[in-house]
Amino acid sequence: MERLNTIVGHVCAAVDDSQSHEPGSNSVTITDNRTGKTINVPITDGTIPATSLNKLNLVSYDPGYFNTSPAYSAITFIDGDQGILSYRGYPIEVLAERSNFLEVAYLLLFGELPTKIQFQDWREKVMQHTYLHPNLTQIMQNFRYDAHPMGMFISSIAAMGTFYPESNPALQGQGVFNNEKTRNKQIVRLIGKVATIAACSYRHRVGRPFNEPDSTLGYTENFLYMLDRLQESAYRPNPRLARALDIMFILHADHELNCSTAAMRHIGSSLTDPYTALAGAAAALYGPLHGGANEAVIRMLEEIGTVDKIPEFIEGVKNKTRKLMGFGHRVYKSYDPRAKIIRSIAYEVFSIMGDEPLIDVAVELERQARADDYFVSRNLYPNVDFFSGLIYRSMGFPTDMFPVLFAIPRTVGWLAHWMEQLSDKDAKIARPKQVYIGSPTREYIPLEKRANEIGPEVSIHSSRLTQRRAVALV
Ligand SMILES: CC(C)(COP(=O)(O)OP(=O)(O)OC[C@H]1O[C@@H](n2cnc3c(N)ncnc32)[C@H](O)[C@@H]1OP(=O)(O)O)[C@@H](O)C(=O)NCCC(=O)NCCS
Repeated sequence: MERLNTIVGHVCAAVDDSQSHEPGSNSVTITDNRTGKTINVPITDGTIPATSLNKLNLVSYDPGYFNTSPAYSAITFIDGDQGILSYRGYPIEVLAERSNFLEVAYLLLFGELPTKIQFQDWREKVMQHTYLHPNLTQIMQNFRYDAHPMGMFISSIAAMGTFYPESNPALQGQGVFNNEKTRNKQIVRLIGKVATIAACSYRHRVGRPFNEPDSTLGYTENFLYMLDRLQESAYRPNPRLARALDIMFILHADHELNCSTAAMRHIGSSLTDPYTALAGAAAALYGPLHGGANEAVIRMLEEIGTVDKIPEFIEGVKNKTRKLMGFGHRVYKSYDPRAKIIRSIAYEVFSIMGDEPLIDVAVELERQARADDYFVSRNLYPNVDFFSGLIYRSMGFPTDMFPVLFAIPRTVGWLAHWMEQLSDKDAKIARPKQVYIGSPTREYIPLEKRANEIGPEVSIHSSRLTQRRAVALV
């Protein structure tokens, strides 16, 4: 963190107009051709401070944050062109093969792999926190019988914030998380409880009573146990399925500043408590362009149905009436390394659970898309969601559980970024700059003096106005 702070300090340094403009100097020179004014801006780690543009009275316009960085981060590295992903310097392929989800969680949060004793302690702490307060389970029982599990998940996480007033900056003051113990307590609580909340969302959705967690089991094993145990006294989930899901959790644990993690940092920047911030991050994950994509992939594959319908579907994508869900990525412009691992897990899961008929459609859809210039020229490859939905479906999860299965492991990434931001002395409340293009100052005309004809159509009023028009016609 020391190093991070130094780097950020450099970036925030004032623009130095006296620096050399010579080629080879570590700066960029910008000339405003409207005025001829030139500024010289220092480059640090490939970045320039956006505020340097203030000197030219300019704002950088960047919808979707394609090229804007709000933070230095030491958590996850992605090289989208090469298809490389690593957590704290460890390649994702190595972690998927040799590590486990809880160990990876520790690595992401605290920066190092745990020692044996640290791991034991960490595992115990997380598993001790898998129990839910009965008031929370009561809240969950009151959702509609067919409530979307992700809606239940988000609301329950937000509700959980009301159970721990000692961790609420609104009540305890801004400095509450300067206390490492208080901060870490929320972390183990959240990681422990999200799996139970997820399992309860599922059980509610399928109309079964909630299971108590079994804290003697592994994290993922316990999750499967809470999902599936009926009345068996010694129920144990299939260890191969538990391992497959554990790898899926590793792959989904973090992915640097994606939409939901950026939301976590955004909300966290106002010093909201982590439960509320995490509910907001999960809300961002819910959307079909992000964590909802694997759900959308299955719906798309079901709609295509059979291999012979693929060319027609691809035509629809190319003429922009359809979207190929599970393809394309803001960062990866080559094969998503997670998608490669997931492809192999899929066959392991099918070997246990039986064949998944839609896999043939998926594999052929991928083949035809990758042979088509539309996808090749835009560097559109399968992303993590293309095959993950098929695995979850084969494991028997209802489609609407898919984003929840994403949210459990991503909780770790959200919290790692929340912690990193809390320790970043240069972090500021997030407040993007708008470019106002609305009306200039106008004079207010009282209602009774406004012209009486029907104004511009506004959808909220249209049916009422249509009725008024009908009356006028009569
Ligand atoms: C992930 C995603 C939102 C990234 O979007 P982005 O970085 O803003 O990329 P763009 O939308 O600018 O896409 C660039 C071009 O590729 C096209 N494109 C991108 N993803 C596409 C897809 N899945 N199907 C069809 N066309 C796609 C866009 O239409 C655009 O075409 P154009 O140049 O003719 O306008 C986008 O690829 C997408 O919507 N994918 C499907 C949803 C999905 O799988 N999300 C999970 C991500 S892990």
